[in-house]
Amino acid sequence: MAKKIIYSAIQPSGIMTLGNFIGAVNNWRSIQENPDNQCLFALADLHTITVRQDPEQFRKNAMSFFALLMAMGIDKDKSILYFQSHVHEHSELAWLLNCYTYVGEMSRMTQFKDKSAKHSDNINMGLMDYPVLMAADILLYGTNVVPVGVDQLQHLEIARDIAVRVNNIYGDIFNVPEGMVNKVGAKIMSLQDPTAKMSKSDPTPNAVVSVLDDPAVILKKFKKAVTDSDTNIIYDPENKPGISNLLTILAVCTGKSIEDVVAECDGLRYGDLKIRVADAVIEMIRPFRAKYDALMADEAYLLEVAREGRDKAAELARPYLEKFKRAIGYVLI
Ligand code: TRP
Repeated sequence: MAKKIIYSAIQPSGIMTLGNFIGAVNNWRSIQENPDNQCLFALADLHTITVRQDPEQFRKNAMSFFALLMAMGIDKDKSILYFQSHVHEHSELAWLLNCYTYVGEMSRMTQFKDKSAKHSDNINMGLMDYPVLMAADILLYGTNVVPVGVDQLQHLEIARDIAVRVNNIYGDIFNVPEGMVNKVGAKIMSLQDPTAKMSKSDPTPNAVVSVLDDPAVILKKFKKAVTDSDTNIIYDPENKPGISNLLTILAVCTGKSIEDVVAECDGLRYGDLKIRVADAVIEMIRPFRAKYDALMADEAYLLEVAREGRDKAAELARPYLEKFKRAIGYVLI
């Protein structure tokens, strides 16, 4: 039986947050364990330059994110792990798909509107084209399932629309992928503003936990986490976003359900809950650091893994791209 193709990606910008780990990478590593799945995980480094990057920092981030994915358990022998920019088929398919995507639908995308407001001095074409490149990433491999955060669901919907549109014109070219959103922890919130997502580019002190933070720093950030003036420990994201966020983090870090965690924490003071959550986070990410440091000390090895991933990804991508080009009417040689 053909394996299910699973595709996801993360941008190597800012820092790898606890939210990235809980909301994405932790999930990826369990999906890759299922032998019925062929997973592809990419560093979406083409997407990253839609916001201006300092070259040196960009390169550092890319290597660092790649090493972190490996340190956190993405296994190059089980998954295809690679840099998006190394597989040129992504850019090529993005161009082709551009010609099947309307300016109107792109200008209505929530993320485009948000980022345009945030980077009003640099509303470049890439920012608007971002969802088409993402559609190319996904459609290039005949992907069946796309693990994504809630904030990327709109982009996935567009990828599906584009696939259906192309199929309506040319027949069966692309698989129409399904999204997959985590049940628990799909969206980890800022520790300082629990109504906003924990974002890798948020400059607010103590709002964001990096998976590379020292234990003492993690403890301090959780101790300062914004909660409410109540004393009840209940899971109610609407009315108690801060406490609910802490409970979600605790549940994921300990592998327990929200209900179990709520029952266990019943009667705890908020201050003690925060310490308990911090300890659970520290324990969970403790093993990453040593592995990460070892990998970062061996750039030659990281590049070797990247080449291996690139070759495997490109081999899978080529037939899909060719099929589409042939259907459009290109002369293939
Ligand atoms: N846009 C995604 C994010 O920022 C990253 C991404 C790029 C992605 N290409 C993708 C996610 C393809 C899933 C599938 O989170």
